[in-house]
Amino acid sequence: MDNCIDTNGAPRKRWTEGRPFFWELGWLDIFRQIGRAISARWDVPGFGGLAQIVDLRKRVTASGGGGDGGGDGLAAAARKEVVSLDPSPGEFGELLRDAAGVATRYWSNFENRRAFTRPPEAVVKRIQSEPLPLGPTPVAEVLEAIEEDVVPYPNGAGHRRWWGFVSSPAHPAGIAAELISTTLNNYVHGTSQIAVDVELKVLEWLAELIGMPAGSSGLLVSGGSAANLVALGAARQRKIPDVRKRGVSALERPLAVYASNQIHSCIGRALEILGLGTDALRLIAVDDEFRIDIDELQRTIRTDLERGIEPLAIIGSAGTVNTGAVDDLEALADIAREVDAWFHVDGAYGGFAGALPELAERYRGIERADSVAADAHKWLYVPVEAAAVIVRDLATLEAAFSTQADYLRLEESSYLRGRAWLADRGIQLSRSFRALKVWAVIKAIGLEGYRELWRNDIAVAREVTRLAREHPRLEVLAESDLSIFAIRYLPQNGAADEFNKKLLDRIHKDGRSLVTSAVLKGKYGLRGCVVNFRSTLEDARVFVDSVIELGTRLESEDAEWKLATYR
Ligand SMILES: Cc1ncc(COP(=O)(O)O)c(C=O)c1O
Repeated sequence: MDNCIDTNGAPRKRWTEGRPFFWELGWLDIFRQIGRAISARWDVPGFGGLAQIVDLRKRVTASGGGGDGGGDGLAAAARKEVVSLDPSPGEFGELLRDAAGVATRYWSNFENRRAFTRPPEAVVKRIQSEPLPLGPTPVAEVLEAIEEDVVPYPNGAGHRRWWGFVSSPAHPAGIAAELISTTLNNYVHGTSQIAVDVELKVLEWLAELIGMPAGSSGLLVSGGSAANLVALGAARQRKIPDVRKRGVSALERPLAVYASNQIHSCIGRALEILGLGTDALRLIAVDDEFRIDIDELQRTIRTDLERGIEPLAIIGSAGTVNTGAVDDLEALADIAREVDAWFHVDGAYGGFAGALPELAERYRGIERADSVAADAHKWLYVPVEAAAVIVRDLATLEAAFSTQADYLRLEESSYLRGRAWLADRGIQLSRSFRALKVWAVIKAIGLEGYRELWRNDIAVAREVTRLAREHPRLEVLAESDLSIFAIRYLPQNGAADEFNKKLLDRIHKDGRSLVTSAVLKGKYGLRGCVVNFRSTLEDARVFVDSVIELGTRLESEDAEWKLATYR
């Protein structure tokens, strides 16, 4: 028996006592494991059922309930094995150590893991067919189910060659901080709690990283989509001060929002939610580097003004999702000032990279933005979910979102009153303490550390581009300002778009690397975004070699197939 010490210092029985460790496997456990393995491998419901029956019997016999299978006996048995709602510190520590064991076993296997593993149908079915639990399940068993059915099938962000979408591995300091913040379980709407102070500090750091002027602040939100929505809510507020009461019927003139045709789809959704509609969004053409065409923007605004349409906001990109293009932010800031529009920058992916001295010139103008959306769960390597909306004028942001409910109001002299009521800056009232993980990771890496990591990510993406350029069968579709590559395989025969769609699927099944797609100037290609502190130049080579290998094989299969159909 493992002796835990309870709060009185007396040894307690280990709360997991009686749980099946592998050296303690009894016949029932062995049956159960065999049943599960068979049902998972061959999807035989009878065997899954057998495993369940064995599970139930085990609980009953463990309870001394005589194995009658009666409802009362079962519930009593389950209660005996269930961790208490309020375990002793020793028991709690043990639970966390067990959970840490699950996480560590996952962590220790990164090298051998595929970039992506789709969950088998049998596992999906098992999860989907599980009825609502009526009674308690021992937490050890819950952890076991997590390790067996969930952990083996991550989406893959964390693998050294996971370059899909814009997702980074989680920094260990962020993982640890997340554990602690969920333990504290702060509701970070406001009040005089340290979580508010940590968030305010983090917002200050993020504003500084972005290059916003001192005094800028905002809110941590779930991600870039939420950050862009909140920022555009502030823009709407400034243009239509009574919009919250009268809705968009308060509009005197139609409004328009301007962004390049490379802008993220969440901007359109934000306009839908804000009642402005996607008809208000003017998607402006881009130049050869996928940056907004400034002349085209000016022409469009002029035409709109002539038709009585008023510019609400101009949105610049600090790192587009397709190619990592950074718009001419200085020019956009000038135009926004000229036409009295809100200047917003979507820096969900690249908003912080202007802190690299070699990129500072490219980011010039971001400091003039009214608002910036920037994600910590992308290029700051903070575990999801964590993003920031930073504004230069907090009063407008609060005017857009604050509420005045009696049950939330704190008197001026209230002991509970804190430095800020953060819920007034966005759409959530109950909010998690996501600032802690951002705080922890920024401290653990530091600005110089980030600069080094960003340079490495950029170098890896450029290495893919360089290697692709060297190979006659590969085409480079875009150069990136940041850490994205976009390439495609050029088959000797047939349409390149269709070929590359098939090739992408092969890459996903192959599992050596994970990239996603982009359509650039009408060409479909393989696109990767390196925001990954595990990636090296060697990974770039492994990826390019795999593209050539899989592409060559696909070409010869296609040729064989054609030959077979003509025979
Ligand atoms: C440029 C850009 N904006 C917005 C978003 C949306 O961010 P999130 O997925 O965190 O909501 C993304 C996501 O990749 C992005 O790359």
